[in-house]
Amino acid sequence: MAVETQIIQPDQLDLAVRLLKQGECVAFPTETVYGLGADALNAEAVAKIFAAKQRPADNPLIVHIHSFEQVSELVKDYDRSVEILMEQFWPGPLSLILPKQDVIPEIVSGGLNTVALRMPDHNLALELLRQVDLPLAAPSANLSGSPSPTRAEHVYQDLQGRIPLILDGGPTGWGLESTVLDCTSSPFRVLRPGGVTVEQLRQFVPIEVDPSVIQNAPVSKPRSPGMKYKHYSPKADVILVVGGQIPEKINRLASQPEYAGMKLGVLAVSEHLDLYPNLAVLDMGPQTQPKVAASRLYHLLRTADEMLLDAVFVEGFHEEDLGLAIMNRLRRAAGYKVVQS
Ligand code: TXA
Ligand code: MG
Repeated sequence: MAVETQIIQPDQLDLAVRLLKQGECVAFPTETVYGLGADALNAEAVAKIFAAKQRPADNPLIVHIHSFEQVSELVKDYDRSVEILMEQFWPGPLSLILPKQDVIPEIVSGGLNTVALRMPDHNLALELLRQVDLPLAAPSANLSGSPSPTRAEHVYQDLQGRIPLILDGGPTGWGLESTVLDCTSSPFRVLRPGGVTVEQLRQFVPIEVDPSVIQNAPVSKPRSPGMKYKHYSPKADVILVVGGQIPEKINRLASQPEYAGMKLGVLAVSEHLDLYPNLAVLDMGPQTQPKVAASRLYHLLRTADEMLLDAVFVEGFHEEDLGLAIMNRLRRAAGYKVVQS
C-alpha cells in the first residue's frame, strides 16, 4: 500500500527519531550519499528497506554508528590494524567489513557471517544516530540499480509513496558511496573504492584492490554481492570514453548512423564545454578536480534523464586517487560499454 512521503528539515529531527524507534525506515543524508535507514537490530524494520528499494535479498547492508563504543557490540575478532583505520578515517567514508556478532540479523548481512560498519562524517547523520541510539542499517536511498541520491529530491523521485519520511540535509558532500574494505581477508581488500582512497589506506596497512573494482566486465560471483547487480544507471544509454583524444572520439561517435535521430549529451570537464557543438553538454567541473566531478556525477546522470537524452557520452578520468572510484561507478553506469580513443 502506498504511504505518503513527507520531506522534513533538520529542525524536525525528532520526527525521524520517533519513526526509526518505531521500526520504520527513514531516508537521511550522510557525507557520501543519502541512506535509507532502519534499526539494524530489528529484522522486520530492515525488511522494509529491502521492500522499498526492491533490493535483492543477498545484498548486505552497511551498519551506521556514532560512537566507537558501539563497535564491540556489533562485530568481533578484529585486531589493532582495524582500530588504526577506525581512528584515522572515522568518522568518514570508509566501511569496514568484520565478523559480525549474533545481534546482527541475517537480513542485514545477506546471510554472510560478516557485517560492514561505518561512522558517517555528517553532523545531522551523527545527531540522528545519537538520538535514536540504535545502529542504523542503511543502503543508498535509491531504487535498486539507479544512481545513488545526492539530494533529498533524488530520494523523493525514487521512493515517493514507498517510505514515510525523508530528512532533508541539502546536497551531500562526496557524492559517491563509501570505500568498502574487507578486513577479514589478508591483506585487507578494497571491494568498492570511494572517498577514502587506496593510496590513503596504504599509509597505514597493506591493501589489495579486488579485481572486480577495475574489471571491464561484470563479475558473476564477486566478494561484495552488490557488485554483480546493474548499478548507478540512468535510463539513457551511457558510453564511457577513455584515452588521449576523448572529445574528438566522442564527436566522431555521436555522428555515427547508430545515433541518428537520437537526443545526445555529454558529461565533460569544464575545459571541454565548448568542444561539443552538437551535443547537450553537462559540466563535471575542472579537469584537475575529480572531487567536484564525484560530487556532481549522480546528479548529472539524473539530469540526463530529466532532459530525456537517449544516450550520454562521458569523458573518462585517470584511475588514481578519487579517479578510481569515479571510473568504477562510470563503468557500471555504462554497463561496461567503454570506448578507447
Ligand atoms: O556511502 C555509503 O556507503 C552509503 C551511505 C548511505 O552510507 N551506503 C551505501 O550502501 O552505499 P549500499 O548498500 O548501497 O552499498 C553497500 C555495498 C554493497 O555493494 C554491498 O554488497 C557491500 O557494500 N557490502 C555490505 N556488507 C557487506 C559484507 N558483509 N560483505 C561484502 N560486501 C558487503
Ligand atoms: Mg547502493
